[in-house]
Amino acid sequence: VSNQNNQRKWVVFMAVLFFLWNEASAQIRYSISEEQKEETVVGNIAKDLGIDLSTLKDRGFRIVSGSTEPHFQVNQNDGILYVNHKIDREEVCERSNVCLINLKTVLENPLEIHYVTVEVLDVNDHSPSFPEKEKRLEISESALPGARFQLQAARDPDGGVYSVQQYKLSPNDHFRLEVMDRDEDGKIPILNLQKPLDKEATRTHRLLLTATDGGKPPRSGTINIIVNVLDVNDNMPVFTKESYSVILNENSPIGTTVVQVNATDLDDGLNGEVIYSFGNNVNSKLRKLFDVDTHTGEIIVKGLIDFELKDRYEIDIQASDRGAVPLTTDKSVKIKIIDLNDNPPEIEITSFSNAIPEDSRLGTTVALISVNDLDSGLNGKVICSVLEDVPFTLMPSLQDNMYSLVTKSPLDREKQSEYDLTIVAKDAGQPSLSSVKTIRVVVSDVNDNSPEFSLSPYTYYVTENNDPGASVFYVSASDHDINENALISYHILRGGGNDNQWASFLNINSENGNILALKAFDFETLKTFQFQVVATDSGTPSLSSNVTVNVFILDQNDNAPVILYPVSTNGSAEGVEEIPRNVNAGHLVTKVRAYDADIGYNGWLLFSLQEVTDHSLFALDRYTGQIRTLRSFTETDEAEHKLVILVKDNGNVSLSATTTVIINAVEPKEAFAASDVKSAVKDEEENSITFYLIITLGSVSALFLISIVVLIVMQCSKDPDYSSKSLQDANYDGTLCHSIQYRSGDKRYMLVGPRMSIGSTIVPGIETTLYFPILQLTMYIMSVWSFKTTPPHLIE
Ligand SMILES: *[C@@H]1O[C@H](CO)[C@@H](O)[C@H](O)[C@H]1NC(C)=O
Ligand SMILES: *[C@@H]1O[C@H](CO)[C@@H](O)[C@H](O)[C@H]1NC(C)=O
Ligand SMILES: *[C@@H]1O[C@H](CO)[C@@H](O)[C@H](O)[C@H]1NC(C)=O
Ligand SMILES: *[C@@H]1O[C@H](CO)[C@@H](O)[C@H](O)[C@H]1NC(C)=O
Repeated sequence: VSNQNNQRKWVVFMAVLFFLWNEASAQIRYSISEEQKEETVVGNIAKDLGIDLSTLKDRGFRIVSGSTEPHFQVNQNDGILYVNHKIDREEVCERSNVCLINLKTVLENPLEIHYVTVEVLDVNDHSPSFPEKEKRLEISESALPGARFQLQAARDPDGGVYSVQQYKLSPNDHFRLEVMDRDEDGKIPILNLQKPLDKEATRTHRLLLTATDGGKPPRSGTINIIVNVLDVNDNMPVFTKESYSVILNENSPIGTTVVQVNATDLDDGLNGEVIYSFGNNVNSKLRKLFDVDTHTGEIIVKGLIDFELKDRYEIDIQASDRGAVPLTTDKSVKIKIIDLNDNPPEIEITSFSNAIPEDSRLGTTVALISVNDLDSGLNGKVICSVLEDVPFTLMPSLQDNMYSLVTKSPLDREKQSEYDLTIVAKDAGQPSLSSVKTIRVVVSDVNDNSPEFSLSPYTYYVTENNDPGASVFYVSASDHDINENALISYHILRGGGNDNQWASFLNINSENGNILALKAFDFETLKTFQFQVVATDSGTPSLSSNVTVNVFILDQNDNAPVILYPVSTNGSAEGVEEIPRNVNAGHLVTKVRAYDADIGYNGWLLFSLQEVTDHSLFALDRYTGQIRTLRSFTETDEAEHKLVILVKDNGNVSLSATTTVIINAVEPKEAFAASDVKSAVKDEEENSITFYLIITLGSVSALFLISIVVLIVMQCSKDPDYSSKSLQDANYDGTLCHSIQYRSGDKRYMLVGPRMSIGSTIVPGIETTLYFPILQLTMYIMSVWSFKTTPPHLIE
């Protein structure tokens, strides 16, 4: 409202000015601002012309105008000129500086013509405007400061001061506005580059250019200026990370992506397209292990990554754009290799004594072992142990990963002469790897074993009459040691007690232990003896042991029976017996006596008649050698009878002797005298000897019987059937029929007798060993006794 008031005041003021000027020039001139509303009063023409208003009504006051739409009208009654319809000065006068509308007024009665000029004054009713709302400019970022870029001018239909007066640019860092004045085109805005553009900093600059006119208030129009900065390859690729540091497991499979480097280039298009490659100084070794993907920047495993070979790598990666003149950046990628447990421990025997004496002290070092694992950390930490239960153990050494293999318990070569030790080295990785080494430790021999005889004592049964110089028995000793420690030599222990006196007839082969008898044994002189053999090994110091050898001589039938009675004075076996003719049947004529130095069957004698003149008259007892009459003598019987008697032992190949008995049957008187004389002589001869023999024999027999009985009782407790038979046999009455025979083959003591089968044996047992000395003694006495001349009747 106030604006309109002002305007109105302005219009009135101008109108007054023009009126005064028109009065002077006698021409009416009004002025109004354009765009006045209809009915706006311009001026009172009538009054200004000095026409009487009272007459005006009748004079037909009007404006003569050619235009169909007159801008003004005049009131016929009061002569006031007013605006008929809105006047746009720019429309009426276009761009002329002064816009005048000439009006012709007509008055009638009398006709008067007056000219009225109405000046249409300009009003700032238009804003400056640009032909486009928006202007796009493309400026290369390489444009230098000072470059100018002309813009289209803004237009304002208002003229004069109301036309575009100035331009204004929105605040910015890069552009300044220059305005060029051209007469016909007015003011032309120009952008002036003040500061280099950087696409990478700002790709687009948005500016607002404002054009303002000189109105009060001024009106303005704007245009958006969009400056697109065109790229130039002025940026090198930049890696997105300051540094690349990655870890990679060793043995990563080929194709594994280690890391992806990323470089960006702020430039556009090819200038900003980044490709990757190895730096120039990356050596061929690295190129064999890694590859870089040109497009993605991925570093890829190409070869075998071995921590043990190298535990870190530094690779230069070059990022390059694809500009015409590419820009490059290098970045080093640090790859740290992580150790995996891929190396088993290695066991090395650094020193090794392959034989250790069995008497080595505990803790003796056998071998030095070093273990090595190429892996690091826990993967390379090795624990070593010996498998199985062996008398060795591993002792860690002062040095790392060194062990000494030492003995932990006593060794005995004779128990185990070598050990295959399995040494296991195991690392602490996950999963852990291990390796195994076997070493053979040989235990060397020490002379710690004495020779041992295969038997102790040895008992040999040797038949008498062996060949002198032949090997009769042998001893054998072994030694658990080896080599010279087990090399045994034998010798017979000589000298010393009585026991060894027979040893002088023996010779031993020191190497094989065969024992030779230098002379033949005679059972009848020696029945048993013993000696000692010493076996000595060749170790240093040597060890020895001794053994007792018991030798029992076995009887052979090497003695023929010897006839003791009858013996003639010249020594031939022949006797003469005289008997009275009147003897009854069963009369004991005489008894043939014989003895055999052998024992057992060899010494068991049987009597038989070899020749006899009359079989019906005499009979010979087979066992006792008694000659008895079978019947009484008759008249026809001869006086002299000759009996040839064969005495035979029971040896396998029996030996025999013969004797001849001449029996003279005499008249009774004669016979008595003869027998009395004979017996008296006999008594005298034998009395002295028999006394002692009776005592000896009595005691011997008692001893013998006791031992037999005891033996049998012992047997009896084992085998009742058997003992009863033995008991019965024990009662047998005969000559030297009871003998104990021991046989070498079956080591059985045999009790032999006439009615006893040859198989009746006493099985050796504890009792035989107990009673053996008694038996031996008995036998000895018996042999002495039988050797001595024993009168036939005493034996009976
Ligand atoms: C590289 O870095 C840019 C910017 O940080 C990112 O937009 C782009 O995805 C990255 N490229 C890769 C392959 O990671
Ligand atoms: C025989 O050996 C025994 C031990 O076995 C020993 O006591 C004895 O002295 C040895 N005799 C000889 C003569 O060496
Ligand atoms: C012994 O005497 C007997 C007669 O009495 C005679 O036949 C025999 O030949 C004699 N023997 C010797 C060895 O003289
Ligand atoms: C008797 O001796 C012969 C040879 O001398 C032998 O073949 C035989 O077996 C022996 N008989 C007995 C019962 O010993």
